[in-house]
Amino acid sequence: MKMITLSINGESRALDVDPATPLLWVVRDYAGLTGTKFGCGIAQCGACIVRIDGRPVRSCITPASAVVGRQITTIEGINGDKTGLHPVQQAWIDEQVPQCGYCQSGQIMAAAALLDRIPSPTDADIDAAMSGVVCRCGTYPRIRKGIKRAAAAIAQTPVPENDDG
Ligand code: FES
Ligand code: FES
Repeated sequence: MKMITLSINGESRALDVDPATPLLWVVRDYAGLTGTKFGCGIAQCGACIVRIDGRPVRSCITPASAVVGRQITTIEGINGDKTGLHPVQQAWIDEQVPQCGYCQSGQIMAAAALLDRIPSPTDADIDAAMSGVVCRCGTYPRIRKGIKRAAAAIAQTPVPENDDG
């Protein structure tokens, strides 16, 4: 094995892992972060989505070697250094989005990435960003509502004052 150092949720982690190992298994089995799920293993479902430098990425087909020096964010670190829930997580609770829950960390990571890119997404934006993030329970209407609720909550959040003077 070879040591590899990855930045996961703002922490530098030195892991004894083959660099060819898919990131999904690195975060789950080596870093102990099991919120990211295995669905298909072939980039077809989105259960394994994490964010790499902010962009949603399917970790099941991403070798660890490809993300050295990049910022990896999993569902466990979705809110960065802020306390409490991310607005998407809160909206998911308020709209009771999950059914079995299995797909939902991927859904939430994809939704959070969408809202960072497009703060007030249209239905078409949501369809484009969330297409291919599969929910076998068919929670799609609630996912759409959750994204809109989170967008509204984020829009109402006061921007912190710049204390540069
Ligand atoms: S497990 Fe990665 S896309 Fe399905
Ligand atoms: S909530 Fe069951 S697969 Fe999405």
